[in-house]
Amino acid sequence: MNRLRGKIALVTGAGSGIGRASAALFASEGASVAAADLSEALARETVDEIERRGGKAVAVAGDVSDASAADRMVSAAADAFGGLNALVNSAGVTARNALAPGADEEEVWDRVIDVNLKGTYLVSRSALPHMRRAGGGSIVNLASTMGIVGYPAGLGGGFNPYPPSKGGVVQLTRNMAIDFARDAIRVNCLCPGFVETGLTKSLTDDPATREMLESRHPLGRLGLPEEVAYAALYLASDEAAYVTGAALTVDGGYTAQ
Ligand SMILES: NC(=O)c1ccc[n+]([C@@H]2O[C@H](COP(=O)([O-])OP(=O)(O)OC[C@H]3O[C@@H](n4cnc5c(N)ncnc54)[C@H](O)[C@@H]3O)[C@@H](O)[C@H]2O)c1
Repeated sequence: MNRLRGKIALVTGAGSGIGRASAALFASEGASVAAADLSEALARETVDEIERRGGKAVAVAGDVSDASAADRMVSAAADAFGGLNALVNSAGVTARNALAPGADEEEVWDRVIDVNLKGTYLVSRSALPHMRRAGGGSIVNLASTMGIVGYPAGLGGGFNPYPPSKGGVVQLTRNMAIDFARDAIRVNCLCPGFVETGLTKSLTDDPATREMLESRHPLGRLGLPEEVAYAALYLASDEAAYVTGAALTVDGGYTAQ
């Protein structure tokens, strides 16, 4: 109930899936939450859900790959609640949903890297001064098992931009952890396996694909957004005070094979 009491958190991608589950869990653990998303309507839904349960939240709209929007999202959080202690960079796209169907392959590549990797950099960069003012903070980036191991399903000739975007997030996490340790800002990432969210729905709706994906996870099923949110909660909380630069798998054993 109180693992984040008194903390102010910004969650990007908070309109759906892992971001929404994290925003809701953080609020239920006492944090004031800024729920940011490309879709204002989805961010608003998350805030409504939090407020219905008695939590504190504001909705912010913006594209994480746009530097001025990243600044606006961070400022909105800090202005609403008086500072910033935690950031969850959950906004993310795959080659499947980055752009409208039929988009040029190179443009899809750029968009995936822009949102997943550059977006994580931009929002984190905007958050740093606020965290320094607060005497420290915690940044949790959403990477993926695909940032650690290859995934055998490419775009066109096998150049799926998603795994390299997430590998970049893992390495960005490690570098930020070292660079900002002196500011008492901890930076960690989560590497989930396949999780049941909007991002994977087009795959999991097909029974044969679903079965194939389930069979790749030793626990024999896909993950739930809440199961990833609990890991984000740990990393954002003071319980993880000595944890920085970690890439924590939440993957049903996928990368243990
Ligand atoms: N679902 C999985 O299987 C899985 C596995 C590993 C990692 N991840 C990562 O976890 C994160 C969350 O994924 P999810 O499954 O909850 O996805 P999701 O599609 O359910 O939610 C992502 C949210 O991000 C928002 N978003 C997309 N682009 C944005 C942008 N440019 N600016 C701001 N918001 C934007 C979307 O509107 C959406 O609400 C992503 O970074 C994803 O890559 C997901």
